Amino acid sequence: MITVKNLSKRYARTVAVDHISFEIQKGQVVGFLGPNGAGKTTTMRILTCFLPPTDGSANVAGFDVLEQPMEVKRRIGYLPETPPLYPEMEVEEYLTFVGKLKGMSGPSLAVRVGEVCERCAVADVRKKLISKLSKGYRQRVGLAQAIIHNPDVLILDEPTAGLDPKQIIETRDLIHSLAGNHTIILSTHILPEVEHICERVIIINKGKVVATDSVQNLQNRARGAESVVLEIEGRDGELDSKIIQQRLEMVSGVSRVVFKETRSNRSLFEVESLKDRFIRGDLARAVVEAGWNLNELRPSAMSLEEIFLQLTGAEKIEPAAPAVEEAAAPVAQGEN
Ligand SMILES: Nc1ncnc2c1ncn2[C@@H]1O[C@H](COP(=O)(O)OP(=O)(O)OP(=O)(O)O)[C@@H](O)[C@H]1O
Ligand SMILES: [Mg+2]
Repeated sequence: MITVKNLSKRYARTVAVDHISFEIQKGQVVGFLGPNGAGKTTTMRILTCFLPPTDGSANVAGFDVLEQPMEVKRRIGYLPETPPLYPEMEVEEYLTFVGKLKGMSGPSLAVRVGEVCERCAVADVRKKLISKLSKGYRQRVGLAQAIIHNPDVLILDEPTAGLDPKQIIETRDLIHSLAGNHTIILSTHILPEVEHICERVIIINKGKVVATDSVQNLQNRARGAESVVLEIEGRDGELDSKIIQQRLEMVSGVSRVVFKETRSNRSLFEVESLKDRFIRGDLARAVVEAGWNLNELRPSAMSLEEIFLQLTGAEKIEPAAPAVEEAAAPVAQGEN
């Protein structure tokens, strides 16, 4: 559905996007991750035809963003970092206006406005001025305008930025409900969000793609070695964590054993393997042969946050910086 080849965007002194390539299949929900200034917004603006690339190509639903921008726009719904809302309009009036810009009219447009109001949970404020809406409601109106023409592809730039936890969950659920019918790319700084709603992740850093994979594979790949959590219970009330730790350290392929805690008669350990060694079978055998009970043995998932930091070399994840807008952007957004 989306094919990006060697895409680059240079500003006067900055290379914002540096020869990135990726493909997104129809119906996929993909998380676009990267630290501030990584090039996420720039890439999204190229895909939505608001910004021409300096180099390379991008194809959406079979149409090239440079050669057939009108065809691309028809198939894309875009929620920019700052939703392109008109504060002096009422919600319904605004959505009708956007629908007309997208070539819709008459009774079918009125029906569609009603549908998206329901879908995005803004039906109760449809007669309210946008300037009077809370941030969360504005964001929902932003989503409503993005889906009004039922586009194949949705491009959402930090759709939950600045929302409170309840609104984040509601917006997340809304995006979830849109998946399936739409191909979705969303950028975010909230990593658990990606784990919740995205099948795939594209991580960019300094304008380059550093990883593109399923969440599951990324976790495996970043780890490179196996890491498992064991809960071991002593027999007859006897449990010496030191002895268990020494026994685990002797298992072939084990690189490190970390004692976590003891609760009643049970101890928890985290065990890491050497690279490309599979230790679960040998660990289980060693525990049972030593006469202890193995209550639990499970892979310890590396969080996406750890992977992100590992791949981008970032010190910490900072809150989003204010958007750097082009002078022409607000005018252009009205045409979206
Ligand atoms: N209009 C512009 N003129 C000059 N430089 C720009 C412009 N827009 C973006 N940049 C630069 O391009 C780089 C990528 O910016 P971009 O907004 O795409 O990053 P981002 O990944 O969306 O970051 P954030 O997480 O902060 O939203 C940054 O270094 C930024 O300063
Ligand atoms: Mg951005």
